[in-house]
Amino acid sequence: MSPQFRILPRAPGGRRRLVVGNWKMNPATVDEAVALAAEVARIEAGGVEVGIAPPAIALGRVSDTVRGTALRVYAQDVHWEQTGAFTAQTSTSMLAGIAVGSIVGHSEMRRDQGDSDARVAAKATAALRAGLRVILCLGESLAQRNGGETDVVLERQVRDGIGPIPRDLLAAERGVRSAIAYEPIWAIGTGVAASGSQASEAVRKIRLELLRIGVDGNATTILYGGSVSAASVGEFARAEGVDGALVGGASLKPEEFAAIVAAFR
Ligand code: PGA
Repeated sequence: MSPQFRILPRAPGGRRRLVVGNWKMNPATVDEAVALAAEVARIEAGGVEVGIAPPAIALGRVSDTVRGTALRVYAQDVHWEQTGAFTAQTSTSMLAGIAVGSIVGHSEMRRDQGDSDARVAAKATAALRAGLRVILCLGESLAQRNGGETDVVLERQVRDGIGPIPRDLLAAERGVRSAIAYEPIWAIGTGVAASGSQASEAVRKIRLELLRIGVDGNATTILYGGSVSAASVGEFARAEGVDGALVGGASLKPEEFAAIVAAFR
């Protein structure tokens, strides 16, 4: 294998470790979101960067609540245009001063809102251009895994979902602003997490594809997501190449989320 395609098992110069709670359409009210954020802000983070992605309607109040703490607020999605006739969407400029970044390409957005790899690339580009951070999600379905297509799917998602993003945006601050979340769809919300070795294998494949498209995969933080819990997190914290987690259900329980953060410290 040529040297430019060598995957390094551990962070060279230290990739940042990141644990983000994706609250999805939870909790039930904005008041509850504010209370949850206040609890999460008290988590002992150590060297781990901790974030939460509350629903859009709660972003403003949650952001005010955690201001001055180390907890970072992310949006769950962002549009590629600044303003215009795009019902229900949020633009990058609207997030200024409220969120440090946004998740893009979550499989639920791909499933429910029709996000394609091209749209994901456009959203990520807009966010990075605006100085926001991005957590770009990708991963295969159960049918694709069972059909032996995992590698092909990851390759396509990297090529078409990350490939079009201008390289200078991805190079910024050696990857501090962009992270990838490997989220196998069959593991999301199912209670059936991938194994550590499945995660490592996928993450390695993603890094290789990043290198192939001219992005420094070895400097890119890659998270695992899909049924991460206090019980399953050890597997991923030990998994080679996995730098953190994108956590759904378990991120709504502050004690459990704290245990997940602690595993990556
Ligand atoms: P889960 O969701 O932890 O509830 O499986 C993860 C995600 O969708 O980001």
